[in-house]
This record gives sequence, C-alpha cells and structure tokens, in this order.
Amino acid sequence: MQKKSNTNTKNSTTKKVAAKVVAAVKEKKSVAKQPEKELTLTEQKYLDFEKRSKLAEIGGGEDKIQKQHDSGKLTARERINILVDNNTFVELDKFVSHKCTDFGMEKTKIPGDGVVSGYGKIDGRLIYVFSFDFTVFGGSLSRTNADKIIKLQKLAIKNGAPLIAINDSGGARIQEGVASLGGYADIFYSNVMSSGVIPQISVIMGPCAGGAVYSPALTDFIFMVKEKSHMFVTGPDVVKTVTHEDVTKEELGGALTHNSITGVAQFMGDNEESTLMMVRELLQFIPSNNMEDSPLRPNIDDVRREDEKLQTLIPDDPNKPYDIKELITTVVDDNYFFEVNPYFAENIVVGYAYLGGKAVGIVANQPSILAGVLDVDASIKAARFVRFCDAFNIPLITFEDVPGFLPGTSQEHLGLIRHGAKLLYAYAEATVPKITVITRKAYGGAYCVMSSKHIGGDVNFAYPAAEIAVMGSEGAVNVLYRSADADSKAKALADYKDRFANPYQAAELGFIDEIILPKQTRFKLIQALEMTQNKTLSNPPKKHGNIPL
Ligand code: HXC
Repeated sequence: MQKKSNTNTKNSTTKKVAAKVVAAVKEKKSVAKQPEKELTLTEQKYLDFEKRSKLAEIGGGEDKIQKQHDSGKLTARERINILVDNNTFVELDKFVSHKCTDFGMEKTKIPGDGVVSGYGKIDGRLIYVFSFDFTVFGGSLSRTNADKIIKLQKLAIKNGAPLIAINDSGGARIQEGVASLGGYADIFYSNVMSSGVIPQISVIMGPCAGGAVYSPALTDFIFMVKEKSHMFVTGPDVVKTVTHEDVTKEELGGALTHNSITGVAQFMGDNEESTLMMVRELLQFIPSNNMEDSPLRPNIDDVRREDEKLQTLIPDDPNKPYDIKELITTVVDDNYFFEVNPYFAENIVVGYAYLGGKAVGIVANQPSILAGVLDVDASIKAARFVRFCDAFNIPLITFEDVPGFLPGTSQEHLGLIRHGAKLLYAYAEATVPKITVITRKAYGGAYCVMSSKHIGGDVNFAYPAAEIAVMGSEGAVNVLYRSADADSKAKALADYKDRFANPYQAAELGFIDEIILPKQTRFKLIQALEMTQNKTLSNPPKKHGNIPL
C-alpha cells in the first residue's frame, strides 16, 4: 500500500511538472512567434560602436592575449587598470589604425594599433599614461602609435601632469621603415621638451630594444620587472654576430643589470603588480609639474620627536662604519624613506621622505659601503637626483660623512674629475632650499661638493663629533711631516686632531650655522625647512649651462 500510495503521489507530481513544462514551451513558442523588435538606426549604431570598441580592446586577439599571459606578462590594458585609481582611466584614440600598405599590412589593421593611451588618476591626481600592446605586432612602434604618444605628450605638458610610459615593445615597426624611425625621433624630441616641465616615468615590462630604449633613457625614472623586462640597444643575437660574445638577455640588459651595474634603471619590482605599485608610491613625493610643490601630507609624527639612539649611532672610532639609512629613517615622518636607485652606487643613498608633512629629497653618504667615498657612479647618481629635485621644487637634505673622492688609476681613468664635477655643478646650480648635516667626516673636495655653504647651502649643521678638514689626520701628517721622526709625527697628529677633527674651525668662519646634537636632527631640519620655505633665488639668465659630461 505504502509503495502504491507512493507511486500515485509520484505520478501526480510528474504530471504537474509535465504540465508546467508544456505550458512553458507553449509560452516560449508564443514569445518566439512574436516579431523581433527592430533596432532603430541609432540603436544599431550603438551596437556597432560596442562591437568596434570590443575589437579594439582585444588588440591582437584572444590567442595573443593568452600567449602574453602564458609568458607571465599582463596586457597593456590590465597594466593600466592596476596602475590607476579604480575606474578613472579614459582612453583616447581607441580607433586610430596604422596607415601602412607594404608587406600586406593593409589587411591587418587593428583599431587603436599597438598603444593604449589616455589619462586617469593616481591617488586622486591626474596622470597621463600610454601602454604598448605587445599583442599587436609585438608592441612595435608604427607611425600611428608614435602620433598617439606625441598627442599625449603635448596634453601632459599643456595640462601639467606626469606622463607614464609602460613599455613592452620590439622597437621600430619593421614594415614601416623610416616612418617608424621618424616616430621615435619625434617622441624623443617631446621627451626632451618635457624634461624638467612634467615628471616622466618609464616602466619596462617586457623586451625593450632599439629605439624603444632611448625614450625611457630620456625620462626621469625607469622601473623594471625582475627577470621579465629587458633593455638593450642591440640584443644578444646582434652582439654575438658583431663581437662573438655569448651573453644572455638577462646578463645583457635584465632588471638587475640595469639597476645594479649600469644605473640605467632606478627601480626593480618583483612582479608587474608590485612594480606598478612602486610607481604609485613615487608619485606621492613629487609634484605634478615644475610650477607646483609636492603635495603636503597630513603629519601626526611629533615634529619635536627626539631619539636617544641617534646619540650613539655614530661610532667613536671615525674608521668604523654605521648605516646612514638608520639615521634617515629615524629622523623622517613615520620613519618612512622611499629610496631611489637602491642597488646602484650604494656608497651614496638618495630618495624621498616627508619631514613635518613636507616632501624632501635626501642625499646621504653611506659610511657602511666603501666608507661613503665619492666615486664616479656615486657622483652621477647623486647629481641626477639633485637635478630632478631642483627642477621640481623639492628641498634637498644632505647628510654628509665622506672621506673624499676615491683615489686610484681606475677611477681617474674612468673620468672621476668630470663625473665628480657633475655633482658639484648640480648642487651649485640648485636653487631649492638646501640643508646639510655633517654627521662625521667632511674631508677635502667632498666637503665643498656636498651642499656646502660656499655653493649655496642655506642651513649647514654639524654634529659635535664632526671632522671638517682638508684630509684625515694621518694623511695630513704624512704629507706635512714626511721625514720627521716618530715622536714629532705623533705630536703633529695630536695637534692636527685637536685643531681640525672637530666642527669648530668651520663654525668660527660661519661655514657651519649651528652645531646640533644628533637627537635634535628631526626638529632642526623641520625648522630649517620652515625657515627656507619661501626661498626665492634665480641663477643668472642664460640659454643653458654646460654641465660636465
Ligand atoms: C614588427 C615585430 C617587431 C618589429 C616583433 N614583432 N618585433 N613586428 N616590427 N620590430 C612581431 C613578431 O613578428 C611577432 O609577430 C610578434 O611581434 C611577437 O614577437 P616574437 O618574436 O614572437 O616575440 P618574442 O619571442 O617575445 O620576442 C620579442 C622580441 C623579438 C625580443 C622583441 O620580437 C625581436 O627581437 N624583435 C625585433 C627587435 C628589433 O630588433 N627591433 C628593431 C630595433 S631598431 P607574430 O605575427 O609572429 O605574432 C629600432 C630603431 C630605432 O628600434 C632607432 C631610434 C634611435
């Protein structure tokens, strides 16, 4: 019974379901029978626009996008979307296409061609961005791509906002010949005209060969991705043909090579996302153009904060190293220092921080690497940093502990004279507020170079244990008392140390404005920044100077 009853129930349920299905089918048929609503002309145009837009957005096609992903790279659009604030990107020139008719190119027109370009916001501030699309002819530069980029360069200058270039390109589009080469040259020209007017940032996210490396080289900062991006004028194959040298692309022009050996790149990220986040971070410290100041940051870090550990950070023994980055991070707002070029010429440290809510550029000799000596690479690195800060109204803070320029044939033959002169030139030319703290040694030419009073230092501090002299005590005594006996030398050494191994001779002459305790550094710097905030100084009018090469 039970079973039967169950069966009956089951039968009636099945019938109900079947009836519902029949009704649904009937309804569907009657819907299907209804005549399709005709689209108005305008609606058809909207649909066509959407189709075209979609076509432009897939660039070289789904297969190429898959290939790009398979090789561990994001697409041009994905990169932009990570870089900018959510839903702020506005694309320009989405439908322009190349004009080339050689090599059957007229059959392969892709709307937008090989560059995605437009504007958006980073932390609410306007930026312009273009991103090479490797899925379209390997991101190679067509005349059309060049024109899109130049349009953006002009907009960025006119409206005073940073321009960010995301590079992933096989260089000049081979099929277009000189039309493409001319495109590069036009971009280079705009890069130079933009220099010092708006910040220009290059992010290398794939291969960057031939002409593709020179535009980044003309910009202010280059970011690279570890093991994923490469820059070279000629790749390993050409190198092999010309010089018979076997070299991998990583060795020749990988992120590590350019960050640590050549100094071509200033930043290296572990992957694309973290690299793009670093770009966002850099922009927090710099103004949008040369007529503005960096954004002020609300500061809750006590401006009078003193840190006792600074009193003992610098060892008694002048030959013992210490880490200048510890001093920097202790002193700045929220202990946050954003280092630039961290892997190149580590004997000098450069980067950005906030002090009392105001952005500053910091240059500091690093006593823990080569005793903080100035060599060719350190001079070039710091000179370029000083010039960027000066061009974009960022006050300079210099922490000085330098035994001098590095002696020796190797450095002299590399041109230490002309490269060292670059740093001297850059500091002397800089008209932004310049504040210097001599933490320990300030010897010889390096004393003059490192933002001394004589080349325009506005506020020059020294710690009580600073040594300001032509050279270190032993070296000086060896020159002056070369043939003296040991006793006379020992006495001369004591005299020399007494006279020069301190900041008081410089303070007597007014070359040092104030001797301060290390723990007071933060507040003293903030006061000096406030004191100089309305500084106005112009160099004599000229077409341009002739900076040593
Ligand atoms: C046209 C190019 C191209 C280029 C690559 N492609 N470079 N098309 N012009 N310059 C195309 C390829 O034919 C391929 O098309 C697609 O892009 C992807 O390239 P692959 O070689 O498959 O990719 P990959 O193996 O990742 O190698 C990438 C690469 C390599 C390292 C960039 O393509 C390469 O070496 N290209 C040439 C680089 C170069 O020498 N450029 C000229 C520099 S001279 P398909 O259809 O197969 O997908 C220069 C002068 C300017 O730039 C000077 C100004 C100072």
